[in-house]
Amino acid sequence: MPEMVQELICQPGGLSQVPSRFVQPVEERPQLTGSLEHAQAGIPIIDMKGVAAADAQRREHVVAEIARACEQWGFFQVINHGVAPSLMEGFRDVACEFFSLSQQEKEEYAVEPGMCVGYGRFYEASDGVANWADNLILFSYGDEHKLANPCMPAKPERFREIVDKYGRSVFELFILLMELVSVGMGLEPDAIAKQANINRGTGGAAIRTDLNLYPPCPQPDLVLGSAPHADRSILTVLQQNQVSGLEVFKDGNWVRVPPIKNAFVINLGDQMQIMTNGTYQSVLHRAVTNHAVERYSFANFLVPADETCIQPIGELLSASSPPLYRAVSFGEYTGGNSYLFKPLEGKRRIDA
Ligand code: SIN
Ligand code: FE2
Repeated sequence: MPEMVQELICQPGGLSQVPSRFVQPVEERPQLTGSLEHAQAGIPIIDMKGVAAADAQRREHVVAEIARACEQWGFFQVINHGVAPSLMEGFRDVACEFFSLSQQEKEEYAVEPGMCVGYGRFYEASDGVANWADNLILFSYGDEHKLANPCMPAKPERFREIVDKYGRSVFELFILLMELVSVGMGLEPDAIAKQANINRGTGGAAIRTDLNLYPPCPQPDLVLGSAPHADRSILTVLQQNQVSGLEVFKDGNWVRVPPIKNAFVINLGDQMQIMTNGTYQSVLHRAVTNHAVERYSFANFLVPADETCIQPIGELLSASSPPLYRAVSFGEYTGGNSYLFKPLEGKRRIDA
């Protein structure tokens, strides 16, 4: 496996320069001071308290806020979202404990060639520049054979149990978010879930979870923790530690997403862009690093089964709103192991 960033920075005397394989071309390098200036703009923070209860007025309010955030940003943060803070913390703990295992112990779960789960560095950009990140990728919800994958760490001891609990709870949040987004578009609550064939326990839908570790970097202005991309998921639900680094591309600027303890950052993925016929976009984002502290992010991607055909929802189409995207199976869309490498491929407009 490639040398992991965690190993690299542990050299005796420390690392003063990043190896050239991590150095971004000049035009991709983060302007770290510039990004912070724009942090004021702020992506929306939405309080979901009471939304699952029978309070119609409260629900309507949240539906409207989510609709506005989807339209204007494609990104928002949620608090009081229904996933217990203790479970979020438990997940953070076991994830950090995993990354603190010895290199040899972690490599027991190394990604096998051609596989998309396990411990490794997944996102080497196609131009050969590596992300300043170590990753552990797994399925936290879905078919049991995926969950039982040999790459699913058995250490730390409570890892599997907590991942399983967390996956179930995050899945419920995904269902709720899809409902609220559907209603905000004037659709039946189950419209999006139905179109993507997302059902509890059946249908092959899954949550893919990326555990990202971004060790401190001696030259953060030369590297990216995660190169710019849009997610291929339906929706993404992400928690980060108290170290900022996630940036969203908005009106020509990179806007920092400030960490809020026990909040989730939500973003729309490519499948949502297709299903909403482009009303909502899956927005470009990236992660930058810093020279001082370790950053973690844990991203859950709601993905349909490979054979599920994704297409614009019929109710959103009319003579004046013709379909902009062709129908595509999710398997065809993601194509082999190219997940995230060519962000926009497959979103071809019909008339293009
Ligand atoms: C990603 O989207 O690839 C990671 C984002 C993050 O680390 O916050
Ligand atoms: Fe992403």
